[in-house]
Amino acid sequence: MSRIWAVCSGSGGVGKTMLALSLAVSAAKAKKQVILLDASGLSHAVDLALGMESVIVLDMADVASGEVSLEAALYPVPNCAGLRLASASLYEGTALSELSGVILALGSMCDILVLDLPTGNMTLGNGLLRQGDELIYVTRPDDASVRAVERLLRRTGRSDAAESIVVNRARKDFRKRGIQMDPSAVAMVLDTALLGVIPEDDALALGVRPGRLPGGIGPAFSEISRIATQLLNRA
Ligand SMILES: Nc1ncnc2c1ncn2[C@@H]1O[C@H](COP(=O)(O)OP(=O)(O)OP(=O)(O)O)[C@@H](O)[C@H]1O
Ligand SMILES: [Mg+2]
Repeated sequence: MSRIWAVCSGSGGVGKTMLALSLAVSAAKAKKQVILLDASGLSHAVDLALGMESVIVLDMADVASGEVSLEAALYPVPNCAGLRLASASLYEGTALSELSGVILALGSMCDILVLDLPTGNMTLGNGLLRQGDELIYVTRPDDASVRAVERLLRRTGRSDAAESIVVNRARKDFRKRGIQMDPSAVAMVLDTALLGVIPEDDALALGVRPGRLPGGIGPAFSEISRIATQLLNRA
């Protein structure tokens, strides 16, 4: 049985895609079979970040309609053994609830299924969040982004899954000047466990060098691999 890590947020642009991709790469490096499902909507940023946008032509909607096999719509990520990419973002208006069967099938084909979800309440009703074993809420340490997660948690909160917070783009200098919240205060406001705090790091900027996998050295990457290890240990 695979574990599903669902990466979501209340507001846009907080780092869901960056985190989902980085966690998927970290889990693959830990010798797990990993599928990363880009369900983030038409921005479908994962394929762009990986430089795979011209390769990915089949979508989970094609699989759900019976037109193609699931295997045909799984794309190995170059230079990352064990990681395959699937897209549920190529078509506008796919009702993600139609994909529940496909998600189950994807889960049976890997150890870890990472979901890069759309922002906010779009995830409601589509069933994807409900299938996660780990619900990872990403937020920046600012009031607007934290309040947006609070609203999402209020509507999607589940007692049968592990819910945790990742604070992204944290800057100590901003915290000292009162521009950003303290990550522990974020967790307290949201009354949810703090899984990790990822610092602001230019090396994490997606799409700067397409095809470049996240990884390497530095505080941001070491925090992401620590988060991945923690999640893997819970599996
Ligand atoms: N810790 C970080 N330090 C620096 N840049 C970051 C960090 N995290 C994310 N970014 C950058 O911020 C931008 C937004 O990140 P990302 O696309 O992952 O957010 P998102 O939540 O998936 O956005 P969307 O809501 O559009 O799907 C990207 O350019 C990404 O590279
Ligand atoms: Mg995204």
